[in-house]
Amino acid sequence: MSDRLRWGILGTGFISGAMTSDLLLTGHTVTAVGSRSQEAADAFAAEHGIATAHPSYQALVADPDVDVIYVGTPHPFHAENATLALEAGKHVLIEKAFTINEREAAAVVELATARGLVVLEAMWTRWMPHMVRIRELIAAGALGEVRALLVDHDQKLPTNPEHRLQNPQLGGGALLDLGIYPISFAWDLFGAPSSVYALSSPTPTGVDGNDAIILGYPGGEKAVIHTVLDAAGPNAAVIVGTEARIEIEPVWYTPTAFSLIAPDGTVFERFVQDVPGRGMQFQAAELERLVAAGQLAGTVLPPAQSVQIMGTLDEIRRQIGLRYPGE
Ligand SMILES: NC(=O)c1ccc[n+]([C@@H]2O[C@H](COP(=O)([O-])OP(=O)(O)OC[C@H]3O[C@@H](n4cnc5c(N)ncnc54)[C@H](OP(=O)(O)O)[C@@H]3O)[C@@H](O)[C@H]2O)c1
Repeated sequence: MSDRLRWGILGTGFISGAMTSDLLLTGHTVTAVGSRSQEAADAFAAEHGIATAHPSYQALVADPDVDVIYVGTPHPFHAENATLALEAGKHVLIEKAFTINEREAAAVVELATARGLVVLEAMWTRWMPHMVRIRELIAAGALGEVRALLVDHDQKLPTNPEHRLQNPQLGGGALLDLGIYPISFAWDLFGAPSSVYALSSPTPTGVDGNDAIILGYPGGEKAVIHTVLDAAGPNAAVIVGTEARIEIEPVWYTPTAFSLIAPDGTVFERFVQDVPGRGMQFQAAELERLVAAGQLAGTVLPPAQSVQIMGTLDEIRRQIGLRYPGE
């Protein structure tokens, strides 16, 4: 095995293409792709210049020239696909939402731990340079006492009832696709919520079309979250502290700029970044770092926290009455 891990891409949809482009752009090694069809695997391999195109996910995970599998399928298949990869002895980077629910997430992490393999949730925002700097500023006390996170993830996405985002069979809805970003951000800032309140409206297909969520914490902090599937919002975020606030510019969960602003409006610091590609490479670097260091969990997003975040999503779904087929 070379120094760098050899990636295998499972699934040939939108996000697999974006991830593969970022991996290749930033010097990672992608040796294979696997699809439910040979045609799709061949087309993906040709587009990205990948050596091997497998006609099944089973064949991909069995490939001896693959060390780590990137799971880019809809969320209801994440646990099954990750289990397949782990049982074949591969490390796994799983797209968000990590799984459909906490029970599935816990089983995946338990298997990875038992096998001594890395499993990481592809919550790409966590490892972006602006988020690294924001964590530093908060830890250094630059905001004083943090009181609140105000954040939205509002997108105008296809409303075709067959689309993945509208389809209960494919884990559709705003929460697991979009709302998970601000919820994960709140977890990053404040840890486990002690109170969860959610209000939602369904789409005609029966998934959640929009959600307003408030998370409360033992120290009195609040996260105020909105997410919607069929309307474009600012997609900005503000962290409010007693000595300063951080305003993250749109789109807050992608590589972007932010300002550290005093109560009187003075800008203490403006952080800008120039990131190659879409910004999905940082999570890949984290997975490779963990493997090289012989660690199963990092500090930024340990798999145990991914399980707990699924628990928060479960509680929100319980409150809004959203169950997926088979649950
Ligand atoms: N990080 C991000 O910015 C981001 C953005 C968008 C989506 N995502 C996440 O990525 C995952 C996939 O989203 P996407 O937008 O890439 O979806 P997509 O374009 O529909 O692609 C999903 C792929 O999964 C595979 N698949 C396996 N079983 C399937 C089934 N029953 N129905 C449909 N596809 C199936 C297919 O690949 P084959 O035909 O090759 O098997 C398909 O191309 C979701 O969990 C989503 O939350 C993340």
